[in-house]
Amino acid sequence: MKVLLIGSGGREHALAWKIAQSPLLEEFYAAPGNPGIADHATLVSLNVEDHAAVIAFAKEKAIDFVVIGPEAPLVAGLADDLRAAGIATFGPSKAAAQLEGSKGFTKDLCARYDIPTGAYQRFKTAEPAKQYVREQGAPIVIKADGLAAGKGVTVAMTETEALAAIDECFDGAFGAAGAEVVVEAFLDGEEASFFCLSDGKTALALATAQDHKRVGDGDTGPNTGGMGAYSPAPVMTSAMVERTMKEIIEPTISGMAKDGNPFSGVFFAGLMITAKGPELIEYNVRFGDPECQVLMMRLKSDLLPILYATATGTLDKVEAEWRDDAALTVVLASKGYPGAYDKNTPIAHIPDASEEAKVFHAGTALKDGRLVATGGRVLNVTAFGKNVTEAQTRAYALTDKVEWENGFCRRDIGWQAVAREKA
Ligand code: AMP
Ligand code: GLY
Repeated sequence: MKVLLIGSGGREHALAWKIAQSPLLEEFYAAPGNPGIADHATLVSLNVEDHAAVIAFAKEKAIDFVVIGPEAPLVAGLADDLRAAGIATFGPSKAAAQLEGSKGFTKDLCARYDIPTGAYQRFKTAEPAKQYVREQGAPIVIKADGLAAGKGVTVAMTETEALAAIDECFDGAFGAAGAEVVVEAFLDGEEASFFCLSDGKTALALATAQDHKRVGDGDTGPNTGGMGAYSPAPVMTSAMVERTMKEIIEPTISGMAKDGNPFSGVFFAGLMITAKGPELIEYNVRFGDPECQVLMMRLKSDLLPILYATATGTLDKVEAEWRDDAALTVVLASKGYPGAYDKNTPIAHIPDASEEAKVFHAGTALKDGRLVATGGRVLNVTAFGKNVTEAQTRAYALTDKVEWENGFCRRDIGWQAVAREKA
């Protein structure tokens, strides 16, 4: 099979590493890719916003299958355009990508199909939103409706904070994404991400993971794209997985199909496990980054036929097998992230991968033959262990061998699971 992978993050490096192991693979391209992905695929400097250019390249190389990693091209309809051109594509349609692209869309779906989630209202102007906040009181959650790079959510512990967040959204802090605001009840519990594939009809549960969204140790500081993750998430017991499939995932898949937006691709539910059970915080229509890195480490099966079955409506014919081990990834980010940070800082050394550990590239580039950091999140140091504690020890041992002066990481990735394992 000739495959084109779209994206350039740590998630795509993990996908590329796994796809490259498939005996079905004949030729492999990535656009735009990164220096880590270059170990597995030929990099192509395509502008992925130019759908015609992507299609022209795919035709020229007789690509059999395109795998789209990030959300932006999905929300922009790249999967629709590729499929319209007759190219099998892994990734949801623009209409189905609204599950991530519009928080209001997802909340309305939950309301229609009785999917457990926090009570909410949608607003197009500030005053009624503020009125609702005053009625409900704090804590309360304010969300820009659209894609805001993970920064459009304020968990307000006071009413004053909530009112300020409403002003911030309507004053344009998140551009068009903040033109509509969702105000939502605060859910108390432990978070977990639940990954599934769907071909529009069938859902296949993949695995669970836990992300660490805050920049600082002890879950402090501003939200980021994710500073580290581990899989599996111990809070997702098999009973909780069963409830999540029945109460959240299956009604979503059948509801999307009924509404004329069948979902094809991978998605993950951001869940809060509350005293009542699993409740939906949000959906994402792609693999999480850095959750994908730990999932790919744990996946035993060949990824390529699973992705292809998802894209071609034959998901009921495949299974996914997982290693029992835990995997954990530590994100090394540029100092200053998620605020401003220096670009093009040199990375002097990345330690070699072993059977049990691997460093994925996210925001790196080669400048004059030298590896530099170009993004906020730059490297993902990922390791296995018989439990999260062992995976954590191995991941940090490897992290400490990375030589990059402008990098920093959280030192406590996996703390909840480690505390559980010690108890
Ligand atoms: P989201 O971008 O919707 O995933 O939100 C970012 C983070 O905000 C989540 O991972 C949660 O930690 C938090 N959050 C979002 N919605 C709620 C809620 N209703 N209750 C409590 N925390 C929330
Ligand atoms: N790590 C969170 C995300 O990919 O949305």
